[in-house]
Amino acid sequence: MERKNALIPGASGIIGRTLIEYLSSLDDWNIIGLSRRQPEYDSRAKFIEVDLLDRTNCEQKLSSLNDITHIFYAAYQPRQTIAEEVAPNKTMLVNVVEVVETASHDLQHVNLITGGKYYGAHLGAFKTPAKESDSRHMPPNFYYGQLDFLQEQQQGKDWAWSNLRPSHLCGFTVGNPMNLISVIAVYAVISKELGLPLRFPGLPAAYSALTQMADATLLAKASIWAATESKCRNESFNVANGDYIRWRHLWSKFAEFFNMDYAEPQTISLTEFMADKGTVWEAMVKKYDLQPYPYEKLVAWQFGDAVFRMDYDVILDTNKVRRFGFHEYVDSEEMFLNYFSQLQRNRIIP
Ligand SMILES: NC(=O)c1ccc[n+]([C@@H]2O[C@H](COP(=O)([O-])OP(=O)(O)OC[C@H]3O[C@@H](n4cnc5c(N)ncnc54)[C@H](OP(=O)(O)O)[C@@H]3O)[C@@H](O)[C@H]2O)c1
Repeated sequence: MERKNALIPGASGIIGRTLIEYLSSLDDWNIIGLSRRQPEYDSRAKFIEVDLLDRTNCEQKLSSLNDITHIFYAAYQPRQTIAEEVAPNKTMLVNVVEVVETASHDLQHVNLITGGKYYGAHLGAFKTPAKESDSRHMPPNFYYGQLDFLQEQQQGKDWAWSNLRPSHLCGFTVGNPMNLISVIAVYAVISKELGLPLRFPGLPAAYSALTQMADATLLAKASIWAATESKCRNESFNVANGDYIRWRHLWSKFAEFFNMDYAEPQTISLTEFMADKGTVWEAMVKKYDLQPYPYEKLVAWQFGDAVFRMDYDVILDTNKVRRFGFHEYVDSEEMFLNYFSQLQRNRIIP
């Protein structure tokens, strides 16, 4: 079997970590992960600490990588505003691709992860189901700059690009801001500790809206498929679990899982109402012998607020990825409960 050499910028992120863990289970891949900090998990990948915003640092650390065959790009720089995200997120991608394609003459594929924000899922109601061919929303949107760069840079080259667009992402990780599993799990166990029932904290219309999840492991499988299937060259694909959910059908199941009462939704700002629960969490860490992750690092409540205030459908059309041959699917309810169990087994939550 021909060995392939994967480079994963964003190795400590929710997407990069899951991809590295999945690639580690395959025999035919060598793996190198990139991030500024050493990732906090075990794997057979080699890690390089590099600041992708710094071109000189990229050249120092990456120009000796002369055998990379596949780049799976999952780095991300959050900023205060949508406009501010554009420049740094393009710069990081440009630096990796330009330095690596110069050094690695057998580069075959660059896989870029974007997401539902490509269609404006973060802005308000948008056309659903969203198709890959739909027109873009009014910029700025950092994904557009990234994809345009890849398309231009690939012209006349042997390597190809692919772009995967997951819906709401769920995976096992700790300390990553955009992590729905931690938001729900930590909110639930703190509610239980305070003697409260579990209540959906978002908008009533968000409770009933139709939405879609994407399991990070499913996304990892789709990335590898897209990066190695010749018919996926220079194509974009939406990726989602395959089912649709309404929070109203799931939150009572979450309460059952955490063995707590369940009550009707009550809209609160998680950012505001969970800000003072650090002391409750510290006491819980001692009481239940949990891993001592700082409360602020565990959950970004504003991410939960953003998702639970989407009072409109968030549906991506996944026909194209199926038509091209990727047929994996995940049951979303099972996925949530499995990830909550994984948080418990790893002593992140009681
Ligand atoms: N999470 C979601 O719900 C979701 C859903 C759909 C789409 N997406 C998209 O998927 C992409 C990846 O998101 P994610 O949620 O996996 O991100 P994440 O968990 O925040 O991880 C970001 C990664 O980028 C690395 N990074 C950031 N700045 C860097 C720099 N200057 N140099 C080197 N590495 C740097 C971080 O490591 P260090 O901080 O250690 O450097 C980390 O490994 C983004 O485009 C995001 O919009 C995410």
